[in-house]
This record gives sequence, C-alpha cells and structure tokens, in this order.
Amino acid sequence: MRRVTLTQYLIEQQRHYGTVSPELRLLIEVVARACKAISHAVSKGPLTGIGDSVGLDNVQGEAQKKLDIIANEVLMEANEWGGQLAAMASEEMAEPYQIPNRYPKGEFLLLYDPLDGSSNLDVNIAVGTIFSVLRCPNNCTEFDASSFLQPGSQQVAAGFAVYGAATVLVLTVGNGVVGFTLDKELGSFVLTDERIMIPEETQEFAINASNMRNWHPPVKRYIDECMAGKTGPRGKDFNMRWVASMVADVYRILCRGGVFLYPKDAKHKEGRLRMMYEANPMAFIVEQAGGAATDGTQRILDIQPSGLHQRVGVVLGSKSEVERVTQYHAEAHEG
Ligand code: AHG
Ligand code: MN
Ligand code: MN
Repeated sequence: MRRVTLTQYLIEQQRHYGTVSPELRLLIEVVARACKAISHAVSKGPLTGIGDSVGLDNVQGEAQKKLDIIANEVLMEANEWGGQLAAMASEEMAEPYQIPNRYPKGEFLLLYDPLDGSSNLDVNIAVGTIFSVLRCPNNCTEFDASSFLQPGSQQVAAGFAVYGAATVLVLTVGNGVVGFTLDKELGSFVLTDERIMIPEETQEFAINASNMRNWHPPVKRYIDECMAGKTGPRGKDFNMRWVASMVADVYRILCRGGVFLYPKDAKHKEGRLRMMYEANPMAFIVEQAGGAATDGTQRILDIQPSGLHQRVGVVLGSKSEVERVTQYHAEAHEG
C-alpha cells in the first residue's frame, strides 16, 4: 500500500489544483508538528501533573489547566518564527498575538483552540486541537485585531486533531476533507481517509441534555421527536452520544453521521461555543464533508463576526438533520 504523508498530500494538492502554496503548506505542517507535541504531552496523563488546574480563568471565565497553557505555548512557539503568519489568536489569549518584529511576517492569520474538551483531561477521555487559517486582509498593511473578523467562508484551511486512542488529524484546504493518523514510531501523519463524507442517513444525535430546561422550543421539538423513537413522528429509534469534547463528537459524526447541537438557550444566550476557533473551522470541515452547519437560523460560515471570542449557537452534521432543526426554528419564528 502506498503511504501518503501529510507533506506529500499537501504537495500533491498544489501540483494538481494549485490550492496549497508552499507558505500554506509550511504553516499546516508546523501546526501538525505542534499537534504531535501536544499529543505526546496529553498521552502522559497524570504522570506529569499537567492536567491539573492552575487556579486561573481564561478570557471566557473558564478554569485553565496547565495543559491548556502548555498547548497554547507549543502552538505559538512553533508558528511564530517561520514567516507564514502575520498574527495568531487563541481561546487562551485575550488579545491577538502579533508576530514579533524580529521575525519575518507572512500573509496568513492563524486561530486556534489549543485544547478542546479540556474538562475531560483528568478522566482520560479524548481531547483535541482545532485550528483555522485566514488570509490577512489588504496584505496586512493595516493589521489590527479586526483583521481576524472575517466570516468563516473566508477560511483557506481548517482542521482539528483528536488525541484519542489514536491521534488523528482532520484537514480541509477547501477541496474535501481528509484524515491522517499519527504513526507514533515514524512520527508522521499518514493519510488514512482520503475522502471523508458524512453519511446522510443517521440515527444519532449529540446534545448536552442537562440544558433541556433552558432549550428554546424548536430544539425541544427536534429532540422530543428523536426521543419518541419508532412510534413517534420520525418513525425510527435514535441513539444519543455526548463526549463533551467537540473534536470527538464531530469526528464521530464525520465517520458515521449524526447531528451535534450546542444551541443558544435561555442560559447560553449567545451560544456556548466560540465562533472563530470552534464553530467556523468545524462548519468548514462539515460542509466540505457534505454536511451542513447553522446557528439554528443561518449558515455559520455566512455570519460576520463582531468579536474574537464571540460565541454562537451550533447545529452541525448530517445535512437533512441540520436542515430539519433549522426549519423548526424558521417555523417557530413564523409562529
Ligand atoms: P474547551 O475545553 O475548549 O473550553 O471546549 C469545550 C467545549 C466543547 O468541546 C464541548 O462540546 C463543550 O464545551 C462541552 O460543554 P458542556 O460541558 O457544557 O457539555
Ligand atoms: Mn473548545
Ligand atoms: Mn480549549
């Protein structure tokens, strides 16, 4: 069997479609290399104590773990010197990080959630890293924090790593979605899924049901109908899954279909997940895999962001299910 590495995949994308410039390739390779380092740190579990809390909150008011901070630094240090980036933004940093003057600057902006699902660290459940690449507007002549505030449709690449039983890297450069598995002996990401497509037929949904009392009526209607099973309006039984690591929930949906919801509700008025480094990259990947992603009313990738750490409602996965949830919102709106 021909083993295709990440580097080879990216070079071939450039050769055949001209979509991955050497600068973009280097950027993705460096992110992937940082993910290997994070994967290694995560796999040590409690041996190092880096899954512990540091007693501080991040900009979102969430408890930071040592590993959140380490993963953030690994990504920052790996990406700052290569000359591909103008700036980076992260869930764990209140302000964007501009590439220091001692390094050359490039045309891209990198956004990331260094460790997604970090509440799962101390219980040995999969966590991951999510990233999104944008082009810096106007050749970055007037860079400021607002340079990041572009709708998700402008992303040039997005991906995520899952540090599970195996470490996988899912990537899109706008030409479908591919999956790599980390060969830990060789230290390289090997292409193991050359065309990830979300199955259309699904009987699985993912939602944190402890928020049920806060759900808006269209969400409640959709979940009630799923729960009603074979004798209900959907005429089939559904299964429920909730890992509480978005990377793991989305990876499962890419593999075997389903729908993931973290909607706006009475408690999470703007939603729970962050638009720029969680919802947008995942929405890009899901659409590229034949699925759909909305905030309940509109396509996530069309939303003009107004803040770096802005939150958004998320409904993503198998297209017909996402369309159904979105339809229920439209019907509720019409009364
Ligand atoms: P993070 O660890 O980066 O803050 O993200 C956690 C997110 C996401 O991964 C997951 O789907 C969701 O939060 C889980 O939220 P609940 O704890 O409310 O279920
Ligand atoms: Mn996250
Ligand atoms: Mn995180």
